[in-house]
This record gives sequence, C-alpha cells and structure tokens, in this order.
Amino acid sequence: MSTVTIAHQEAKELVVKKLTEAGLNKEHAEKVAEILVHADLRNVNSHGVLRTEHYVNRLNAGGINPNANIQFNKTGPVTGVVDGDDGFGHVIADVAMKQAIEMAKENGIGMVTAINSSHCGALSYFVQEAAEQNLIGIAMTHTDKIVVPFGGKEAFLGTNPIAYGVPAKTSKPFILDMATSNVALGKILQYKEEGKEIPPGWGVDENGETVTDPGKVVALQTFGGPKGYGLSMIVDIFSGLLAGAAFGPHITKMYGDLDKKRKLGHYFCAINPAFFTDADAFLENMDQMMDEIRQAPPAPGFSQVFVPGEIEQMNEERNLENGITIASTVYQFLKK
Ligand SMILES: NC(=O)c1ccc[n+]([C@@H]2O[C@H](COP(=O)([O-])OP(=O)(O)OC[C@H]3O[C@@H](n4cnc5c(N)ncnc54)[C@H](O)[C@@H]3O)[C@@H](O)[C@H]2O)c1
Repeated sequence: MSTVTIAHQEAKELVVKKLTEAGLNKEHAEKVAEILVHADLRNVNSHGVLRTEHYVNRLNAGGINPNANIQFNKTGPVTGVVDGDDGFGHVIADVAMKQAIEMAKENGIGMVTAINSSHCGALSYFVQEAAEQNLIGIAMTHTDKIVVPFGGKEAFLGTNPIAYGVPAKTSKPFILDMATSNVALGKILQYKEEGKEIPPGWGVDENGETVTDPGKVVALQTFGGPKGYGLSMIVDIFSGLLAGAAFGPHITKMYGDLDKKRKLGHYFCAINPAFFTDADAFLENMDQMMDEIRQAPPAPGFSQVFVPGEIEQMNEERNLENGITIASTVYQFLKK
C-alpha cells in the first residue's frame, strides 16, 4: 500500500475543511478531527482520518445532523444522559465524558449514557481525558452487527469496544482500549490482500465455522470464546439498553443506510480514587505496578512486557515529531 507521512496539524486542518465543506459546524468539525488524528498519532489508523470520507458521505446523505444541539440531562447526583440530537459521536461522547468527570470530581463517581449518537471513533481519547485529571475512566459503545455470538452461526453483535484509562503519578496512564472481536474486519481484509492465512478464531464462513482462508470470512468471532462473547453483550447492555438505544441486529448499519440516523448509545464512567483510598498513594502504586510489570521477564519471542496502551503512547511520541502515516488514497481524498 502506498502511504504518505504528513504533520498531524496538516491532517487535522484537512479533515476540518472536508467536514465543514460537507456542512458540519466548525466547532464539531474541530473535535472530530482532533479525535481522528489522536487515533492516527497512536497508529490506530483504522479509527483515524481514513474515516473522513465515510462521514462526508453520511453528512451528504442526511444520516448525521451537522448542527446537533447536544443536551445533558442530569438524572441524579452522579448520573446523567446526553441526548446527541443525531450529531457526531465523537462530539457527543466528549460531552458525556466531561460531564462524568465533573460529577466524579465532586461526588466520587460519574456515570453518563449517551443516546441519539453515531460512530464515536477510538475510545482511548475519552478514557484518557479522565486519566489526565487523575480519575479512572471507562467507556463502552455498541456497533452494528458483524460478530457471531459464541456457538452461533450468524452475526448478531458489533465489535463492541470497551476502554479503561487509569492515571499514574509519573508514568503515562494505563490505557486498555479493545474491541471485543478478536480482530477488526480490516485486519482480515489485509491478510486476504497479502495472500496470507488467518489463525482459527478470527472469523467464520457462511456455515458458522471458523476458517483460515480470509476470503471465506462473513462474520467475526469474539476474543476468548464465551468470555469475550459475554463481555460483548455487556457492552451492548451498558451502551445500548441502559442508554435506551437498540441492540445487536437492530442497530442501523455504519456502511449502508447512509441516510438514516444511527441512534447509537454509549456509556461513560469516571471514578475518583480519592473517594476510595489515599489518592496520591494510588497514583504511586500505579507507577510501581506498571514498573514491575515492565520488568517481568519476557517469554521467548518477546522483547519485553508492555503495559496496555504503552505501544500506542510510544507511537504517539514518535508521530508527534515525525508525522502520521496514512494511505495515499486517503491523503488524496482529503486534499481534493
Ligand atoms: N467506536 C467504535 O464503534 C469502535 C468499534 C470497534 C473498535 N473501535 C476502536 O478501535 C480501536 C482498535 O481496537 P482493537 O481491539 O483493534 O485494538 P488492539 O487489538 O490493537 O489493542 C487492544 C489493546 O491491547 C493493548 N495491547 C496490544 N498489544 C499489546 C502488547 N504487546 N502488550 C500490552 N498491551 C497490548 C493495546 O494497548 C490496547 O489497549 C480502539 O481504539 C477501539 O476503541 C471503535
């Protein structure tokens, strides 16, 4: 694949231009661009600026409200619901996490669901927002069906990611941000293009049997068999049902039904360690735990043990300086 490396600021400006030309208000376009570039900086390119073309198509088709009036309704001392008015998921999720953070600062915990939303990108952005304020952040979102339930032959669940961000005193935060499918469909398509076999457990064929030929994959499998499957349902329950949104097969497709509002739900939680233990000791203990894990002896074939999020944080440091690498086709679209 031909690629180009550009400064992250240029990528952000190009995305803002594309989205505002498609009618999105400037403030929301800036936030969406920031979150897409956040993903590319971490080399999570699947959720980076390459998604811009899809968002433009959905805006053009009327499937996203370009001037959403996002409202927060506080429902209790530590709870609330954000109504996204069918705007961009990135902006709606950002509002929801910020509200959870404010409640956690004051009352120890904040839990916010979001409704009438759309694709919100890489969850790491939101849990990092909490961790940067010395809070634990949790985020979940459901997505449209492409994953088989354990033992089932047809797709029912989405790739339903879950993310946790935990602060430390001197180290960068612990950031676990993972889809509950074993891998993304994009990775299987990449193996297909490269003529490589996939390991069993990534995807199933039309009979529901796990396959090694990437060309036969019609649906994905969860990680960890029934455990990942159970967690995937939990994500759909917290971000879908608890938010009052649809679940599994009833969710509007991302790629398709471009003119339909997606009505997605998300779930965010912020936890203030100071309400449970000595906050400073907690941060120091996080440092110690992560330091000790890093020093754990590596197994054959591994150079070292990494903390979740660490590889992406190293990518970010490097890419902030050297630029982000994206497909040439994506760059051409953004420049057009
Ligand atoms: N908004 C949506 O609808 C949606 C849907 C699916 C996925 N996503 C996003 O897609 C992105 C990619 O998800 P993914 O599941 O493919 O991520 P991934 O499999 O690349 O990584 C999952 C987690 O494992 C950690 N990890 C990976 N290698 C490691 C190692 N060697 N040592 C320690 N930790 C390691 C990573 O830091 C990360 O926290 C995420 O940002 C997710 O939020 C979003």
